[in-house]
Amino acid sequence: MKPILITGGAGFIGSHLTRLFVRKYPQYHVVNLDNLTYAGNLENLKDIEKESNYEFVKGDITDLNFVKTLFEKHQFTGVLHCAAESHVDRSITDPLAFLRTNVLGTVSLLQAAKDLWKDNEEGKVFYHISTDEVYGSLGTEGFFTEDTSYDPRSPYSASKASSDHFVRAFYHTYKLPVKISNCSNNYGPFHFPEKLIPLCIHNILNNKALPIYGKGENIRDWLYVEDHVRAIDLIFHQGKVGETYNIGGHNEWTNIALVKELCRQMDEKLGRVTGSSEKLITYVQDRAGHDMRYAIDASKLTKELNWLPSLQFEEGISKTIDWYLDNEEWLKHVTSGDYQGYYEHQYGK
Ligand code: NAD
Ligand code: DAU
Repeated sequence: MKPILITGGAGFIGSHLTRLFVRKYPQYHVVNLDNLTYAGNLENLKDIEKESNYEFVKGDITDLNFVKTLFEKHQFTGVLHCAAESHVDRSITDPLAFLRTNVLGTVSLLQAAKDLWKDNEEGKVFYHISTDEVYGSLGTEGFFTEDTSYDPRSPYSASKASSDHFVRAFYHTYKLPVKISNCSNNYGPFHFPEKLIPLCIHNILNNKALPIYGKGENIRDWLYVEDHVRAIDLIFHQGKVGETYNIGGHNEWTNIALVKELCRQMDEKLGRVTGSSEKLITYVQDRAGHDMRYAIDASKLTKELNWLPSLQFEEGISKTIDWYLDNEEWLKHVTSGDYQGYYEHQYGK
């Protein structure tokens, strides 16, 4: 069995990635290392938890001794690093948490891989999963390419940019076999309802206000999460060592248009009068330093590895809403407890 480490496998993207690897590669022993923060949830992996090629380990990526012991014990040959603090609004409230997990945590993992893979033999891969936010904010024109200069503007994106730089530094300095991808906004099942799409689905279900920052004109490029993890699988196995790949949906929506589409589809699915959910839209104070537009040029990935998104957005959103409607228990669990405190702090009562 080939021992593979996935970090943050109990989170949103990590759980889809773990499921894909456990099911598709029975010859891999997949270890999911996650310390189960508010965003980590083992319910996300219920359907694979008993698979013989899957193992969960609870632990903190910032604990270097622990991480090194784990690498020595399992002799990992590949690492897919997803664990992170991932929410921009939380980074505005608590930047140090982002510095710790995203920078210190990434460097701990790099250090452990470097110490284990002393001779850097063929076949080893340290894959760092990153974000398009490192490139900063676009105006109405243009796209982020792999050569766009870094210009992070939130504590979250600054911490992710820093982690990307450390990954490249380990490649250049120690020849650690690394790969990086920078992806646009993901959506789909198991998305924690602090992020725009699941938050609005949850609030529409409960007839609560839909908080739109500023004028709702900011633009994001949305990609269905399974298309993201399919790209990660391709890059992990076939991408070039030392290279960066952008991943995106060519699917730009202003926040307000996106939320109206959610309202339209949910009115239909819930049998509500057309237009009733839209009445919940409430414009609130803008996010500090709110990036205007993200848009990815993913042509390198398409040319080199023949990847394209598989789902049209309206279809992806429909599947996503259906998943939340079928999994109200999951939503109830993740929105009880600490979530209420977070919500009040962020949006008021
Ligand atoms: P998430 O917040 O849903 O999950 C993060 C996971 O990491 C959780 O399971 C959490 O428990 C775990 N974790 C956090 N701190 C940890 C620590 N110190 N030790 C061990 N585990 C820890 O995040 P996500 O949205 O799934 O994002 C995963 C990765 O993909 C992140 O690196 C993020 O920057 C990147 N990314 C996300 C998106 C997106 O739209 N969500 C887009 C592009 C890139
Ligand atoms: O671009 C990739 C990034 O996408 C990832 O790296 C991040 O981990 C992920 O959280 C996401 O960041 P965003 O800040 O773009 O996602 P979020 O869902 O928080 O916000 C999407 C847009 O909606 C953004 O313009 C802010 C706006 N928004 C968000 C929330 C939570 C609102 O208008 N109201 C809200 O309540």
